[in-house]
Amino acid sequence: MQVVRTVEALRTARKELRGSVGFVPTMGALHKGHLSLIQRAKAENEHLIVSIFVNPTQFLQGEDLDAYPRKELADTTICLRAGVDILFMPSIDEMYERDELSIGAPAIRGYILEGEKRPGHFDGMLQIVMKLLNLSRATRAYFGKKDAQQLALVTQMVKNYFMDVEIVPCEIVRDERGLALSSRNSYLSEAGKTKALCLSKSLKEATRLIRQNELNVTTIKSSMHIVLQEAERVEYIAIVDQEFRPLSSIERGNTMILVAVWIEKTRLIDNLWL
Ligand code: PAJ
Repeated sequence: MQVVRTVEALRTARKELRGSVGFVPTMGALHKGHLSLIQRAKAENEHLIVSIFVNPTQFLQGEDLDAYPRKELADTTICLRAGVDILFMPSIDEMYERDELSIGAPAIRGYILEGEKRPGHFDGMLQIVMKLLNLSRATRAYFGKKDAQQLALVTQMVKNYFMDVEIVPCEIVRDERGLALSSRNSYLSEAGKTKALCLSKSLKEATRLIRQNELNVTTIKSSMHIVLQEAERVEYIAIVDQEFRPLSSIERGNTMILVAVWIEKTRLIDNLWL
């Protein structure tokens, strides 16, 4: 595995790769969710590039940029064992100039739900993903459904800018109790982790109701609210179609249920695709 820290070194290493290239962009503190993307990219491509970069432009003022977990040594070992060919770990200066051209998330889908609660987050996310996709020149890039809106917006950017890469959506990985894995789970106490189970429990409650043929969105949301009472604060429960338009009734095969809550001082998200 080559560990590269500069754009120039990445370009040089990339030139050596012939055939298909899988790419997994991450912010590090790797867990089994990230690993599932890495393993899939490994299986489906001849070569594999992973990036680890805590991207400042996607964090809002007052968010956890400084506190975000950094585990370079452990992450490097995970990537080595997973058969990564190139691990890209650039500094901020390597990725950004002072006065940059920016990319704006779409006015509607980029500014609802996560985009409403974290205005500007998706602009910064798209900016870094564009840079990383251009540098990796990947055949396929792998993104988790855990960040459903991110996945949708990256897919849209690739389409709108005629970029030559396939975006591959990957399933959400959970721990044995149902908590969706996230680097931010490390902020939680043991009691917080138990409380955080209310996210997946609320999604299970929705599934249970839908199995009983309860398709009314208002009814489903009310039941989910009761389960989510364990959280300090519920930011949103959204039931939308694949275009992120609100639904009044569940449409099987075209519905996402998304939740965002605060547990202790940590903001957590989860979702379910029906
Ligand atoms: P990060 O939060 O590190 O996540 C990297 C990738 O792993 C994303 O595609 C995310 O959806 C996926 N992922 C995280 N937890 C997962 C889980 N439990 N199951 C499946 N996939 C999971 O998302 C980012 O970084 C950044 O925004 C990035 C795309 C790297 C741009 O900076």
